[in-house]
Amino acid sequence: MQRALTLYQTTIGKKVVMALSGAIIVGFVIGHFLGNLNIYLGPEAINGYAAKLHSMPALVWATRILLLFAFGAHIWAAYQLWRRNVAARGSHYKRRKDLATDYAARTMYWTGPILLLYLVYHLLEFTIIPAHPGDVYRNVVEAFRNPWISAFYVAGNLALGLHLFHGIFSAFQSIGANHPRYNSYRRDLAIAISAVITLGNISFPISVLTGIVTL
Ligand code: HEM
Repeated sequence: MQRALTLYQTTIGKKVVMALSGAIIVGFVIGHFLGNLNIYLGPEAINGYAAKLHSMPALVWATRILLLFAFGAHIWAAYQLWRRNVAARGSHYKRRKDLATDYAARTMYWTGPILLLYLVYHLLEFTIIPAHPGDVYRNVVEAFRNPWISAFYVAGNLALGLHLFHGIFSAFQSIGANHPRYNSYRRDLAIAISAVITLGNISFPISVLTGIVTL
């Protein structure tokens, strides 16, 4: 325990926390996307899927608590790394050592808060105060018929794509898996996961707006 706490005090310790909590969140995001594909099979499929999940409250609550811890740790470690970064910067005239890493880190610090905003809105709309409790299909179609809401979801998921790409790529580095021989695989894997999730998630509002998915 003491050793874990000592490790957390270091920059690399915080990055490992970012990587592990990020992996939990990515796992959920992939599972959530696969579940949402039921929208394409119609109202019975997605509503039946949601009802089945809600009939297992222990699973639902265990997932929620795990996610709460993962998001909490992810945001807290990110905040501390950011504070450390600002403190270390000191002078505006520092020499730029690694433009690629700098660019990735800067992207994370603006996509992260956008995603937090997206998540709060998303939870309010579909989980906390849904217009039609139990009718997931209707909630999704009615929401995405509004072009502003759809635009917000598209923008949020583009931010998610960038965040996932840089996050997955740097997570391997943080856990020490950054051998030059495997770096191109690391990049390909990050591109593949983030592209599938982003395009897949964006397809939902687009399909509603174009009338492919209707009530
Ligand atoms: C366009 C893409 C998305 C759609 C259509 C969608 C749809 C939904 C719906 C309908 C629910 C409510 C499910 C129910 O009550 O049974 C839900 C819940 C949720 N969504 Fe999404 N979602 C999308 C993207 C995301 C993303 C990218 C994230 C994470 C960053 C996310 C995180 C969550 C969470 C945490 C819940 C609450 C689960 C719970 O505790 O009940 N969603 N989503």
